[in-house]
Amino acid sequence: MCGIVAYIGPREAYPILIKGLQRLEYRGYDSAGIALLNGELNLFKTKGKVVELVDYLKDKDLKGNIGIAHTRWATHGEPNQTNAHPHFSQSGKLAIIHNGIIENYGALKKELTKRGYTFTSDTDTEVLVNLIEDICQNEKVSLEEAVRMSLNQVIGAYAIVILSQENPDMLIAARKGSPLVIGIGKDDYFIASDATPIIEYTKNVVYLEDEEVAIIKRGEELQIRNIKNRKKTPYIQELEWNLNELEKGGYDHFMLKEIYEQPRSIKDSMRGRLNARKGIVSLGGVSEYEEKLLKARRIIMIACGTSWHASLVGEYLFEDIARIPVEVEYASEFRYRNPIIDENDIIIAISQSGETADTLAAIKMAKSKGATILGICNVVGSSIPRLTDAGSYTHAGPEIGVASTKAFTAQVTILTLMALRLAQLKGTLPKSRFMQLLHELEHLPAKVEQVLDDKGITEQIAKEFKNTTNFLYLGRGYNFPVALEGALKLKEISYIHAEGYPAAEMKHGPIALIDENMPVVFIAPSKGIYEKVVSNIQEVKARNGKIIAIVTKGDTTVKKMADYIIEIPETEEMLVPILATIPLQKLAYYIAIMRGCNVDQPRNLAKSVTVE
Ligand code: F6R
Repeated sequence: MCGIVAYIGPREAYPILIKGLQRLEYRGYDSAGIALLNGELNLFKTKGKVVELVDYLKDKDLKGNIGIAHTRWATHGEPNQTNAHPHFSQSGKLAIIHNGIIENYGALKKELTKRGYTFTSDTDTEVLVNLIEDICQNEKVSLEEAVRMSLNQVIGAYAIVILSQENPDMLIAARKGSPLVIGIGKDDYFIASDATPIIEYTKNVVYLEDEEVAIIKRGEELQIRNIKNRKKTPYIQELEWNLNELEKGGYDHFMLKEIYEQPRSIKDSMRGRLNARKGIVSLGGVSEYEEKLLKARRIIMIACGTSWHASLVGEYLFEDIARIPVEVEYASEFRYRNPIIDENDIIIAISQSGETADTLAAIKMAKSKGATILGICNVVGSSIPRLTDAGSYTHAGPEIGVASTKAFTAQVTILTLMALRLAQLKGTLPKSRFMQLLHELEHLPAKVEQVLDDKGITEQIAKEFKNTTNFLYLGRGYNFPVALEGALKLKEISYIHAEGYPAAEMKHGPIALIDENMPVVFIAPSKGIYEKVVSNIQEVKARNGKIIAIVTKGDTTVKKMADYIIEIPETEEMLVPILATIPLQKLAYYIAIMRGCNVDQPRNLAKSVTVE
């Protein structure tokens, strides 16, 4: 949600900032702005995407080797030029960019208004920058001190960077609840909401912790203090991602690239963790917690969106093969419903970004009740892995497309490995069956390649249904979460209304929707309760619904009933979700493209949801 970039050093700041905004645009894209300091503070902002800002800046003087820039996902105030960041303080001497929400901004604004401040925007951010200015002027303290003092008055979440006309060799950055990374170059500093804008300049980064304030001075060492004014030692980490992972690499869209990366990303998720020949599954990150997992009364998986769908697959896996009770919870519900949790519970938090506000809050709540927290995350160094007791990274590589694709299959891969390891420890699977599953898992990336090479069938189906207004997705057992995920993919990028259901639930309501205009996608592999799904297909057929079915290669029964079939290779029942999700990702992609939608940046969405 909202992208922050800032630079201080000997180079021209503008090219670095604008490129950084382009890299971060997946976080928010309703308006963008930039402030550069070159003797005086120059502020430029526009409604719309970064490309519109670039256009607006064509004939402007963009000199300066210090600056801040922002791409916004609106929270307070509609997305327009006035509400776009950066925001000036009343004197025009301070500029701020902000990600997050200042919850007590109303009370602060009232107080500042009494003191003579007026506001041009509807944002909470403008309140914060004026609060800093007010403290600076009235308390006669330095800017660093004023920032620290103001943050002690703030309730809510923030990642901020402040640029001051009177301090041309300094930037101040701070975070609470919203991520902020500082890249340390040879003689310059790069600040951003995540590492993507930084990676081409340096691999050395410091992730700010909550309530830390960084004082970043030209030519000086980075200083960090917390808002209680305690000095902190910066912990410098090395980034693992490469620059080419952040480019489209010849694909039209990041989403398509990421769909096609799945054979590789699934393999990377298993690398060093699975040796089928020797019968070894080991997840180094959680090995110390195996004993606790074995003794756990139950496991609670918490997540949002696509990661919640992966958790549902996890529930089937853990209960099926490791015989441990699992509950799956929306983090946003869990955090507010006073759940019964204690030290016998293990929470597994699942998140691509590692920054989702609701998941973070749910973790903190469960932690305060004594539960052990494990994480499954993709972004190394993000907030969730730093908050959990232990965990496993998915190693899917950066996911830039807003719709999650390869992160989902990587999450399910990790959950499969975890469930297998627990099954091994608990002895809930016969050795021969365990070995069989490991072998099948090892061969899965090659089967994913086969699924991707579908001879144009998903495109053909997309062409047929691109103008439809509703879709139903149905699956049973392991494939019920796949139905949910297929429906989510379609609705978020094509804006077609789509619902996912357990197939048997259809007759309790959704069947009323079926007529000759309703496409119904069935996930109907030959494993599991195949005959039951076939009966559900018949029920749709009898009402003239259009049937698109994902079936196991060689299926003849469903083929006779369906209008379209998409074949996937034969695999174990528990591994079908990984294979079956991929055609649904492609179907959503092609339908969205044919409808002229921006698949990488769908309307109203942002990649990393750092607000409630
Ligand atoms: C859907 C999608 C979202 C995310 C959700 C959780 O394609 O991307 O539903 O899955 O916002 O995000 P993470 O996994 O980063 O916690």
